[in-house]
Amino acid sequence: MKRIRINTPEGKSILLMGGTVRDILPLLPRKGLFIITDTNVRKIYGSIFPPGEVLAIEPGEKSKTLAVAGELCRQMLEAGADRTSFVLGFGGGVVCDVAGLVASIYMRGVRHAFISTTLLSQVDASIGGKTGVNLGEYKNILGTFRQPEFVLCDHEMLSTLSDEEFRSGLGELLKHGAIRDRNLFFDVAAAADRLSSRDPRILGDFIMRAVRIKAGVVKRDPLEKGLRRILNFGHTFGHVLETHYKIPHGMAVAQGMIIAAELSVWKGEMPHSELRLLQVTMEKTGLLTDYRLPAGVVNMMAKDKKSEAGSLNFVLLRMVGKAIVRKIPVTELQAFVSYYNEKQDSG
Ligand SMILES: NC(=O)c1ccc[n+]([C@@H]2O[C@H](COP(=O)([O-])OP(=O)(O)OC[C@H]3O[C@@H](n4cnc5c(N)ncnc54)[C@H](O)[C@@H]3O)[C@@H](O)[C@H]2O)c1
Ligand SMILES: [Zn+2]
Repeated sequence: MKRIRINTPEGKSILLMGGTVRDILPLLPRKGLFIITDTNVRKIYGSIFPPGEVLAIEPGEKSKTLAVAGELCRQMLEAGADRTSFVLGFGGGVVCDVAGLVASIYMRGVRHAFISTTLLSQVDASIGGKTGVNLGEYKNILGTFRQPEFVLCDHEMLSTLSDEEFRSGLGELLKHGAIRDRNLFFDVAAAADRLSSRDPRILGDFIMRAVRIKAGVVKRDPLEKGLRRILNFGHTFGHVLETHYKIPHGMAVAQGMIIAAELSVWKGEMPHSELRLLQVTMEKTGLLTDYRLPAGVVNMMAKDKKSEAGSLNFVLLRMVGKAIVRKIPVTELQAFVSYYNEKQDSG
């Protein structure tokens, strides 16, 4: 098991990469443990849950609401949770986002940690201390920053993921390469077949490379005032596609990355040859989709958190492996969306 530490002024977090549930038992309190999970994860891994009160939500994005978070708080209160209680989120990104939020607001905050069970949450969602739920069709509008005390990533657990959820995780893994590590990006695509065997050692190496990138960015900018924005690459278009077409987060982000790369070329920031390279490589990993941008996409994006006074802070690429942030006026984005959809329609 390898350890990565994230120390920020707001809190410390330790990432336990490649360990098992047994390794974290000494880190948990003997009393007052509340395990927040979803019903799928409970069915598969319930028998190895540490001793504690289990609260299970419905699986999937529909559970990322303030109502679900409130209901979990109510169940904790009824079960006697107090300020000394400890919340353990045991699941994928949805569970971690909701459990993290509950832990940060219940009685103004209780201790918490995660056991991260999807590829997407092991490379991204469980790490970095962002919690959140959606507000109607708008993603992650309500949330907090709060570092989990530890995150356990047991790569053996990825063997039970569906192919679709596994591919979704590859989307965020590729994102880390696209923004900061050109070799990682191409290595993931070259290893796509070997990765799909779910060998925990092969997966562990790639997850570690992605997590080092994310941890490095979070340490420098824990509250997303500047550099951390690059982690949102692919997410501005991606969030709209995810909500509109109800597709897994990482799949939507993958197409969002390709659209953002097109925008980078359109804005003259990146050569067209890099866009082609990105597209061909994503195709190898089964992540090339061609959803049309829905009507009203720019209005929806303007309500995303990356917008300020008629402009959006957009993450673009200079090349595969190097992200930049540019302010783009909403009117210019409107013109780009028309260009993009016409291109899609003409095949
Ligand atoms: N907070 C952050 O920094 C951050 C970063 C990236 C993504 N996210 C959020 O993460 C969410 C997506 O996370 P996700 O893809 O993990 O989704 P998820 O939590 O919905 O998990 C996907 C599906 O896999 C099932 N599952 C979980 N672990 C399993 C296992 N080991 N074996 C079999 N099935 C398993 C779940 O029950 C669910 O049906 C999105 O809401 C996204 O916004 C948050
Ligand atoms: Zn994401």
